[in-house]
Parts: sequence; C-alpha cells; structure tokens
Amino acid sequence: MTGAIILAAGKGERIGNIDKAFITLVDKPMIAYSLLACESCTDIDYIVVVTRPERFDTVAAIAKDFNITKLSSVVAGGNRRQDSVLSGISALPSQTQFVAIHDAARPLVKPELFSLCLASARKNGTGIAAHKIYDTVKECNDDCIVLKTLNREKLRTTATPQAFSLPLLIKALTYANDNDITVTDDAAAVELLSEPIQLIEWNDNNMKVTIKEDALFVSYLLKYFKGNC
Ligand code: CTP
Ligand code: MG
Repeated sequence: MTGAIILAAGKGERIGNIDKAFITLVDKPMIAYSLLACESCTDIDYIVVVTRPERFDTVAAIAKDFNITKLSSVVAGGNRRQDSVLSGISALPSQTQFVAIHDAARPLVKPELFSLCLASARKNGTGIAAHKIYDTVKECNDDCIVLKTLNREKLRTTATPQAFSLPLLIKALTYANDNDITVTDDAAAVELLSEPIQLIEWNDNNMKVTIKEDALFVSYLLKYFKGNC
C-alpha cells in the first residue's frame, strides 16, 4: 500500500508568519490543490496531513468540501520539517510500503508527477522530483567572491513529491536525527546513508510558495493556465 504525506506544519516565516497552506489561491485553500492531486492519483491509497493542531478541523472541512476520500489521518508537525515528516510516517497505516512526501506549499503539483516518483521508488527505492536550472550558478566564499561557475548541465534543484520505500526513509531520517543532522529535504537524509537517489526530471512549473510574490505568481498560473504550465 502507498501513502502520501502532505506537509503543512511550517511557520511561514518568509511569507510574513502566516499559515500559508491555508491561504486562498484563486478559489481554493492552497493545501486543497495537493489533496486533489493525491485524490486523483491512482497510485496513492491514502493521505496523511501534517499540520498545527488548531488546523485539524480546517483540514477535515477542506477534505469534506473537496470530496477527498483518501484522507486517513491529520497529525501535528514538529519544529523542523524532518520532524514533521516523522510525525506523518507514524500515522501511516501499518501495511504501507511506499510513501510520497509533498509540501502543501507546492499547489501546482500534478497526479502524474506523484505516479512517476512512486514508480521510481518501487523500482529504485527513491524517486525525487527535480528541475533543470536555467540560471548560471556560481559558488562563492563568505565575502561573495566567486570561486567558480558550476556546470549547470549537471545541476538540478529538488522539489516534492519525493517518494521512497518506507523502510529506507525511516532508516535515513532516524540516522539524521541520531547524528543531530538537519536536512532541507528527505533525499538529503537518504544521501547520508550513501544510498543511490533517483531524480525524476519534471520541467513543468512546480514552484514552492515561499514569499508573498510567489503566491501571486502561482495564483496567476492556476487561474490562467489551470495549473497546466
Ligand atoms: N513544513 C512542515 N513542518 C515544519 C516545517 C515545514 O510541515 N516544521 C512544511 C511547510 O508547511 C511547507 C513545506 O514543509 O508546506 C516546505 O517548507 P517551507 O516552504 O520552508 O515552509 P515554512 O517552513 O512554513 O516557511 P518558512 O521556512 O518561511 O517559515
Ligand atoms: Mg521552512
């Protein structure tokens, strides 16, 4: 069985300390877009949402409004993103073999991307949404003096969904916690185990809403392209 964990327990500091997963984009709360993508993805059996306890009722109401039948639990998050992921894992039904972790802050996600990441997780243990880089990237020192230009053909940014075989993800996050290592994505925890990580190239827009302008831009894409961009 396969679960999806939707993360919505952050503080939204960079967008002005707001619970950004619940702001309205066009005509829906941001988190509803990710819930709908999971609902229509036939490779996902159930959904766990991780959020603040004061939002539990809101999530239940959104699930009802948008006919999300796969929602199995809503649980509290932790201080760091990786703590929220572990909290979500603890709520997965015991028969779960594969899991896709997804940021509620990425409302442009498509069901097909979940499927591609999960298919790779089944085959390789991991399947991580990744994007090509269009800018030139420089490595610099603390004084902003350029050390070198990186070869962007070999660079990718990682996004979510990130799909894993569940035992591998648990092992990786436990290792990071036991060694006091904070990671910025789940793939980075798997890297600590020196396990291979399979990226899934996806070049449709799947940006994360981090600052206010992002919310405006994503709303525009959702409204005028219906998210097909
Ligand atoms: N997240 C979470 N638990 C945390 C931190 C983050 O569930 N302790 C979730 C956020 O809700 C978001 C996703 O992880 O959907 C990506 O994180 P980010 O964009 O950094 O969101 P925030 O942490 O809320 O924002 P900021 O870092 O600006 O405070
Ligand atoms: Mg954050």
